[in-house]
Amino acid sequence: MSEVVLKMQGIIKDFPGVRALNNVNFEARSGELLALMGENGAGKSTLMKVLSGVWPYPTYEGDIYLRGERVRFANTKEAEAAGIGIIYQELNLIPGLSVAENIFLDRQFTDAKGRINWNQTFAETQKLLTELGINDIRPTDLVQNITVGKQQMVEIAKALSLKAEILVLDEPTSALTDKEVKDLFRIIRKLKADGVCMCYISHKMEEIEQIADRIAVLRDGQTIGEVTPIADITLDQIIARMVGRDIKDMFPKVDFTPGEVTLEVNDLSVTNPDMPGSYLVKNASFVARKGEILGISGLMGAGRTELVGGVFGAYPDQTTGEVKLNGQKLEIKSPKDAIEAGIALLTEDRKALGLFLDKSISFNTTISSLETISSKVLGIINTQQERKVVKEYVDQLGVKTPSIDTVIGTLSGGNQQKVILGKWLNSKPDVFILDEPTRGIDIGAKVEIYKLLNELVQQGVTVIMISSELPEVLGMCDRILVMCEGEIVSNFERDDAKKEAIMAYATGSA
Ligand SMILES: Nc1ncnc2c1ncn2[C@@H]1O[C@H](COP(=O)(O)OP(=O)(O)OP(=O)(O)O)[C@@H](O)[C@H]1O
Ligand SMILES: [Mg+2]
Repeated sequence: MSEVVLKMQGIIKDFPGVRALNNVNFEARSGELLALMGENGAGKSTLMKVLSGVWPYPTYEGDIYLRGERVRFANTKEAEAAGIGIIYQELNLIPGLSVAENIFLDRQFTDAKGRINWNQTFAETQKLLTELGINDIRPTDLVQNITVGKQQMVEIAKALSLKAEILVLDEPTSALTDKEVKDLFRIIRKLKADGVCMCYISHKMEEIEQIADRIAVLRDGQTIGEVTPIADITLDQIIARMVGRDIKDMFPKVDFTPGEVTLEVNDLSVTNPDMPGSYLVKNASFVARKGEILGISGLMGAGRTELVGGVFGAYPDQTTGEVKLNGQKLEIKSPKDAIEAGIALLTEDRKALGLFLDKSISFNTTISSLETISSKVLGIINTQQERKVVKEYVDQLGVKTPSIDTVIGTLSGGNQQKVILGKWLNSKPDVFILDEPTRGIDIGAKVEIYKLLNELVQQGVTVIMISSELPEVLGMCDRILVMCEGEIVSNFERDDAKKEAIMAYATGSA
């Protein structure tokens, strides 16, 4: 077995009112990918921030050893110098700077007079990108002009330039297209072969099965069980360690009797603003019924988000086609029109939803959706009734927080997601469109979200769910549309829907 490069022992980390880490112990080896798993708020990101100097010594208790030697970092620079690279859950690049500037921030090459040697900076960047086999990013590209997936690759190139021996990846695939995930996994395998030790955080089980060598589970700030080779543990055992109980029914689907058509979309097209004459969505027509869950499947980039955005009035100047609700033709020129007509959309870009990070959970959940969109929020009074509703969602979704008055920015990533979801579930529209509703959300809470969707359809709401997780689509939807390259290419009834057939349509090989 390879050498233990990292050991964290008895780590304790407190925040006001919360013990985030409560005696965490684990070790990781060179050339392995160690998956760190656990529910939202279990302490995964916090643990990695302790490792990387974001939370410096002595703001935590316990000890960190690198190759047997105790280290105590005062800041992230010291951790970097010791060979620890980290790619955060929230990306950390500066949008207005080039790829090269971001990679060599504060470390640019200079000439004898101390002036920045741009040629060398660009050349070194190119070398790194080439080494990683990345040929669609240029050192001079501005970070704000490249996709999130590519930004992720830039973060990795940066970690590589630091000659990281330990690389932490905190939910790195949450915003990547399938192709980008493949690229990332290729790079991960290469780094593994080079002996890099990787700590990898993810809520996606399929990923863990594909690339993890061993797993460590955190629950409520504590390590549960030993670090275990992935071959020696079943999925159910991992879940039981994470959640502390068995989940019997991952997809609690209720039977559906088709109701009348509520939403009808005819010939909807969305043009591509960057490429005149081409389309993001082309001639899409579909209906959705009262009380059904309609799934929209497809690869990332297939046009699913743009389709529902078109329905929702997100890009009125690019959209043509007809949208009817309960037989009435709608004139939707903006999201506000859509919301007033009774259509709600939980977008995949959660940041754009305008969470007020420095405000409490109850504040964030009770401001109405319209006010969020226009960002004009003045004094809002939380009534007793509203507080009760917020509390119910917080309990039902298991949002890990000391209280509903806690500042939302201090919650873990997944718990922030749950709050946004609760807020939209609270708005009770006729048609509720959810774009990747369970992304970044742990397995126990996913089941709670499915139950909430069931409740909604039983109340007569039409639910439309975009999801990249096929098991979830197959498990929860009554009907499944498949999109490929901007078009709806297939429509499966629940009983006919099979994984292979959906994938064939999604990849255009059917
Ligand atoms: N800066 C902070 N201030 C106060 N509390 C915090 C802060 N950062 C994290 N916490 C709390 O510490 C606990 C662990 O959070 P952490 O972000 O480590 O969870 P996580 O396992 O990464 O979850 P997720 O899967 O949702 O990303 C949570 O209860 C969270 O609210
Ligand atoms: Mg996290």
